[in-house]
Amino acid sequence: MVKISDNHGPLASSRIIAIANQKGGVGKTTTAINLATAIAASKKRVLVIDLDPQGNASTGLGLDRASRAISSYHVLMGEADLGQAVQGTNIPNLWLVPSSIDLSGAEVELVDATARESRLRSALAAASDWDLILIDCPPSLNLLTLNALVAAQAVLVPLQCEFFALEGISHLVKTIERVKAAFNPDLELHGIVLTMFDKRNNLSDMVAADVRDYFGDKVYKTVIPRNVRVSEAPSHGKPVLLYDVRCAGSEAYIHLASEVLKRERELRA
Ligand SMILES: Nc1ncnc2c1ncn2[C@@H]1O[C@H](COP(=O)(O)OP(=O)(O)OP(=O)(O)O)[C@@H](O)[C@H]1O
Ligand SMILES: [Mg+2]
Repeated sequence: MVKISDNHGPLASSRIIAIANQKGGVGKTTTAINLATAIAASKKRVLVIDLDPQGNASTGLGLDRASRAISSYHVLMGEADLGQAVQGTNIPNLWLVPSSIDLSGAEVELVDATARESRLRSALAAASDWDLILIDCPPSLNLLTLNALVAAQAVLVPLQCEFFALEGISHLVKTIERVKAAFNPDLELHGIVLTMFDKRNNLSDMVAADVRDYFGDKVYKTVIPRNVRVSEAPSHGKPVLLYDVRCAGSEAYIHLASEVLKRERELRA
């Protein structure tokens, strides 16, 4: 059943989680790809929407640039339906809406458009073919990320344990609150995942402790370690779970997936 939440149109009946952090290089795309793969492996139908002009999620899921003719750009612009933009991947139960470089102009093109912040939400309103839709956001709080936050029911924030991490995240949390008040009362913080954790680095430990102090249970127990296999996998067009299922990075993403699914059950109960 489609839930009517406010005057910005119905929320999709698939669960939608935006993976966002305006800071660059913190592990958003890696988390989107590997969380999606781990959840798809548990027989759930998962769709990844690549909403970043960089297109790293599309590359990491093995889709070459020539196959991205219909992308999330066309969906946002109303030039294609979701169904036309969805592509299968080599991973069972996992689909992708690729991005294209045109997305970098979407902000300017949408500036005078009506309902410019709820374009994605409208496009996803009828999406019921997936159990879970993960949106990989660009490293900015721009109109693309805003579209993701208006379309989603929850936000998952990857956070790298470094100096100033808490300041960056408090800005993001304020943005989530604003989006919630103005456009999407259902939006909630799903959780924060600590990424690229280096246990030999004291600063990592200190920042992790601060983040847990401040955000409590919202921080997933699973920590994603810095692991070279994770960084090698995208150049093979594969999630690390397919590249080396036994490495520490893959194990961590499998744990994160079960935590996310558990939290999903709690949130929906
Ligand atoms: N756990 C990890 N261990 C080692 N390298 C990692 C890990 N997670 C991500 N990386 C690497 O760090 C870089 C940044 O990761 P990723 O692209 O996922 O971040 P992002 O937040 O999506 O970046 P952007 O903001 O540019 O979209 C990539 O080269 C990726 O392979
Ligand atoms: Mg990215």
